[in-house]
Amino acid sequence: MEKAIVFKNIKKSYGSVQAVNGINLTIYQGEFFGLLGPNGAGKSTLINMLAGIVKSTSGTIKAMGFDVEKNYQEARHSLGIVPQELVFDPFFNVREMLRFQAGYFGKGRENYDWIDEILERLDLTEKAFTNMRQLSGGMKRRALIAQALAHRPPIIVLDEPTAGVDVELRQRLWAFMKDLNQSGHTIVLTTHYLEEAENLCKRIAMVNRGKLVALDDTKKLIRKNSAKNLNIKIDNLDEQKILKILKSFKVFIKNEILSISLENLEELNDIIVLLKKNKIKFFDIQTTEPDLEKVFLQMTKK
Ligand SMILES: Nc1ncnc2c1ncn2[C@@H]1O[C@H](COP(=O)(O)OP(=O)(O)O)[C@@H](O)[C@H]1O
Ligand SMILES: [Mg+2]
Repeated sequence: MEKAIVFKNIKKSYGSVQAVNGINLTIYQGEFFGLLGPNGAGKSTLINMLAGIVKSTSGTIKAMGFDVEKNYQEARHSLGIVPQELVFDPFFNVREMLRFQAGYFGKGRENYDWIDEILERLDLTEKAFTNMRQLSGGMKRRALIAQALAHRPPIIVLDEPTAGVDVELRQRLWAFMKDLNQSGHTIVLTTHYLEEAENLCKRIAMVNRGKLVALDDTKKLIRKNSAKNLNIKIDNLDEQKILKILKSFKVFIKNEILSISLENLEELNDIIVLLKKNKIKFFDIQTTEPDLEKVFLQMTKK
């Protein structure tokens, strides 16, 4: 497999904050890859270093074989990056901005059809002549996604592209990304919607406190971490007490519900016995299939 992006021992510190603390990660061409982690984990810092917006403290990053610092132009050519922050040039209308952007990468009139296709796929055609600063937040987000794609880069990186975006655009965007992935583009995304990542990404990396804490095929990652989820509703839930009683299990408490990730079904019996012995009243016992959210909570607990 050919490499698309390589992060090699990458570190970034802001004063005493170690935003990224030694990450090694290779993403291959043609992958649909998810980069997940809680707020502040270092995802955007990693992406901004790839984009050349932020300079790493140490380590190297390559895109399609080009070092993002030493071969900035070539690396940048192969990347279409949608940053988390909405930054734009207020002087252009949407179509001008896209043509200008592609032109910057040496693409001229031959690329105009592609730009119209992007506008169409992101439902921006009607806004083609609208000035960037007059767009609503959601429309700006679309325009910035379009901007990243304008020069038809082989690698597309989206940092939280669906945060605060309506369902319709989300579906539209993902359908478009799936098509681009089918036609050979490498797609990397970060998202807060774990269900989205679970459905879209073939492989996932999880980061926490600047470090890689998991990296695997999405399905394997979920299967490896738990056999089943057990959800139990408990009367007058006393979090501390329950956590103490069940300290040998992987327990999360959310919305008054105790959620335990089981490694095997025998554990179910052990848990019930423990709860009874400690006179904990419970009702509504349910088992569910494991999902990415549970893995995520486990991996990023500390
Ligand atoms: N420009 C900056 N100056 C100082 N600290 C920063 C800066 N950018 C990010 N950080 C810090 O680096 C850490 C990682 O942030 P970030 O990469 O934005 O995380 P994520 O995108 O995973 O939410 C956080 O602790 C954040 O506060
Ligand atoms: Mg971020």
